[in-house]
Amino acid sequence: MASLLDQRRFLIPFRSSLLPQIFTDTLVIGGGAAGLSAAISAANHGECIVLSKGTFKQTNTSWAQGGIAAAMAAEDTTESHITDTLEAGTGLCDPKVVREVVEAAPAAMRRLINWGARFDSDASGKLSLGREGGHSFHRILHAHGDATGREVQRALVERVRDTAGIRVFEQCFALDLITPTDEVGAPVMGAITYHQKYGLQVIWAKATILASGGAGVLFRETTNPIQATADGLAMAYRAGASLACMAFMQFHPTTLYLPGASRSLITEAVRGDGAHLLDATGHRFMRDVHPLAELAPRDVVSQAIVRQIAKQGGSHVWLDCRHLSNFAARFPGIAQLLKQFELNPSKDLIPIHPAAHYMVGGIHADVQGRTDVPGLYAVGEAAYNGLHGANRLASNSLLEGLVVGETVGRICAEMKPKARPSPMSIVSDIRPSEQGELDLSDVKSSLRSAMWKNVGVERTGNKLRDVTDMLDFWARYTLDKIFDEPAGWEIQNLLLVGGIVARSSMWRQESRGCHYRVDHPLSKEEYRVHDLWRRRVDGPTLIEVAAGDLAPSTPQATRPTLV
Ligand code: FAD
Ligand code: SIN
Repeated sequence: MASLLDQRRFLIPFRSSLLPQIFTDTLVIGGGAAGLSAAISAANHGECIVLSKGTFKQTNTSWAQGGIAAAMAAEDTTESHITDTLEAGTGLCDPKVVREVVEAAPAAMRRLINWGARFDSDASGKLSLGREGGHSFHRILHAHGDATGREVQRALVERVRDTAGIRVFEQCFALDLITPTDEVGAPVMGAITYHQKYGLQVIWAKATILASGGAGVLFRETTNPIQATADGLAMAYRAGASLACMAFMQFHPTTLYLPGASRSLITEAVRGDGAHLLDATGHRFMRDVHPLAELAPRDVVSQAIVRQIAKQGGSHVWLDCRHLSNFAARFPGIAQLLKQFELNPSKDLIPIHPAAHYMVGGIHADVQGRTDVPGLYAVGEAAYNGLHGANRLASNSLLEGLVVGETVGRICAEMKPKARPSPMSIVSDIRPSEQGELDLSDVKSSLRSAMWKNVGVERTGNKLRDVTDMLDFWARYTLDKIFDEPAGWEIQNLLLVGGIVARSSMWRQESRGCHYRVDHPLSKEEYRVHDLWRRRVDGPTLIEVAAGDLAPSTPQATRPTLV
């Protein structure tokens, strides 16, 4: 019987020779900040196809509010941005990677501005820079107040459309990466995709870049759009790539907690501008928790809110913006959202609660995007390259997508001398299980609830063990089914990745960054390592790697431990 522990290689049965074949030099899976940046840069070295399972507007990138971090103010320094990033990453950042990305930030911003992105500035044309938790200076570039992502996405999409050599496939779902054999380590040669109009296709490529974003939908409470279903993580894992540090899911402290509001984010920049958090009695409790109060790192604020709610009962705490002047001008999108719910931030307290926000863990890659599988690159939220360590500093992820996206597009030109892969016969001969129908939406909502309750802001060994067993059991009768549309494939991907997030969280018997274990509340030196998970016939296998040594090309396995 199929289970998480003997995960099959492909989601569906197919014969590549019977499907329409498309050829390119670089295939980019994902049309957010990371994928579009990669495509623009890869197009300098050959033809490129970029795919997105929805439209280009349906990305986490488009939803970004606060902005992009870059040390561009006269009083700020790159060294300070580096220090803040390392501090947030609590011992697991790769300092070389942090330096490389942060040093490249101002140039990446200038490039984006040259491509037409318009960031907010004052009357003299000087950039207006915001401040967010964990940052020592005002260094967050933002657009339209709280719609930075929309502007970044717009500028990149326009640039892609103006760039010769890029073909764009929207509404095109990548199911699996193709490799000549099922062996772990076999090179990736492209992907099998499903287009709403054209059905299944094989796209052969010399280099395949996964820029498929995060996994927020794993959790009942999330700031992410419905597309963030961990597909890229799951397909990379099935193709033999390692997933790194999957315990690290960052929870954002402030999402609007009202029925019908879909846990809409209220950007940290609101607290950067001076908003307070109040408990049920009106007390500003963050001052008792951390010297930076509401601007403490996100994990500290999220945990404090959860504890406060547990202590006082109820379902939320309050965000107090009543003393802020100019709220509607500075945060027009949020003001509009609040208005829909008849809330006026200058008079009313806003009910908020934490929610899953950013997948820090991801496909093990270096700062050039190379994974441990030849021909496969990973970038953006889908990747783990050591920039964020155990926790991401606010507004560093759009930055990562822009900087590393440009680099990976350039680097995968290393595949240029190779000939394009000739179409070969790849056969997936899995058979449909005969065990009847599944209520997919029930599996999805059960998974999301189980992840939120057991692998949420506060975790304990017992609950993690329970949820791991539970997901393995659900996997037995869900992963052996064959679905013919994205809704089913997404649930299979979520279940697989949820199982690995639970295992990684159970294995990490310490608290660090955004992973908080009530039963192990302190960080421990022996866990200052990256945990990597790789497909094996006998189930996901854990390999520990020393901190600061993340380059996939170096031999990393030190002491394999099976959990
Ligand atoms: P995404 O932008 O999520 O793009 C993923 C792409 O992959 C999409 O095109 C999707 O369709 C495609 N895809 C996924 N699966 C498949 C598949 N199977 N087949 C084909 N295509 C697929 N970060 C900041 O730095 N600053 C902020 O202010 C900020 N605010 C945020 C606010 C919100 C509400 C959210 C949710 C996130 C925020 N973040 C912010 C985080 C940041 O937006 C994301 O980490 C970043 O945009 C990820 O970019 P990406 O290109 O890696 O992925
Ligand atoms: C926010 O605007 O609070 C989100 C910023 C981020 O996730 O980097």
